[in-house]
Amino acid sequence: QSSVLHKFKDILFSTMSSEELLSSMDSFNAREDDVFLVSYPKSGTHWIAKVIENIPNAEITLTSPIELGDISKFEELKMCCKRRVIPTHLSYNMLPVDIKQKQCKVNYIVRNPKDTAVSLFHYYRENPNLPGIESWAAFLELFLRGDVVYGSWFDHILTWEDHKNDENILFIFYEEMKKDPSKSIKKITTFLGINVSEREINQIACKSSFREMKNDAAKENCDANKTICALTSNRSLVFRKGAVGDWINYFTSKQKIVFDELFAERMKHSELARHFED
Ligand code: PPS
Repeated sequence: QSSVLHKFKDILFSTMSSEELLSSMDSFNAREDDVFLVSYPKSGTHWIAKVIENIPNAEITLTSPIELGDISKFEELKMCCKRRVIPTHLSYNMLPVDIKQKQCKVNYIVRNPKDTAVSLFHYYRENPNLPGIESWAAFLELFLRGDVVYGSWFDHILTWEDHKNDENILFIFYEEMKKDPSKSIKKITTFLGINVSEREINQIACKSSFREMKNDAAKENCDANKTICALTSNRSLVFRKGAVGDWINYFTSKQKIVFDELFAERMKHSELARHFED
């Protein structure tokens, strides 16, 4: 995996995140009105970003991920005049300290780990910035060991779960948003303190539908400045199936048992576990 990934503090990162930048995270200056869009990869970051971008009069700038690039990144972020919406796949422990001290708003997006694994598997296969992978079975082993980009899903979610009741943190579940987009959109706008009408919510839901987003991405240029993904500059790689429960097409019954055993062990004290019952 070494040519396209590197380890920092025992977690695998893409070489698009320089070691120098990762070790300087705590020199990042947050603004009190910053909003962070946080997730483990393939959990729906682009979806939430699209929702926020489409809030009328939100007056925001959506930036590239805080951990993407080199040390000049922080200078670049200083230039933003509008309210910054900053995506990241960092775990709570690696989040710059100033963000915690200033209690910036954080929208944490979480998705069923089996679907997340399947989505990341495809991303490994199609994204030249990720290592080649032989088979689903080989990938699943890496995923369960946390030997994938951004480390273990369990570690990530558990560091964030400790803060799920903090006032400045909103958890959004991919599956709930899929079932009732308007309800999740309302939660997000309320959390950001922006008033929107029912009509506006419906419009946001239309513009951020999977079909609409996939079509838009196919039309856009592969402009590195436009991406909010830390792992590619090609947006069209991000939109694959956009479904809940696709894991069933990949997991063998034995793989499901192994996964469920690890899940039960790692999530035994987690209140979030109930969200992911099959
Ligand atoms: S990334 O690259 O890690 O930032 O990817 P991320 O945006 O977090 O997640 C990508 C998956 O989210 C799906 N997606 C959506 N699903 C439903 N509705 C909408 N609007 C939507 N937009 C993105 C995307 O298709 C990826 O999931 P899979 O299962 O691979 O399709």
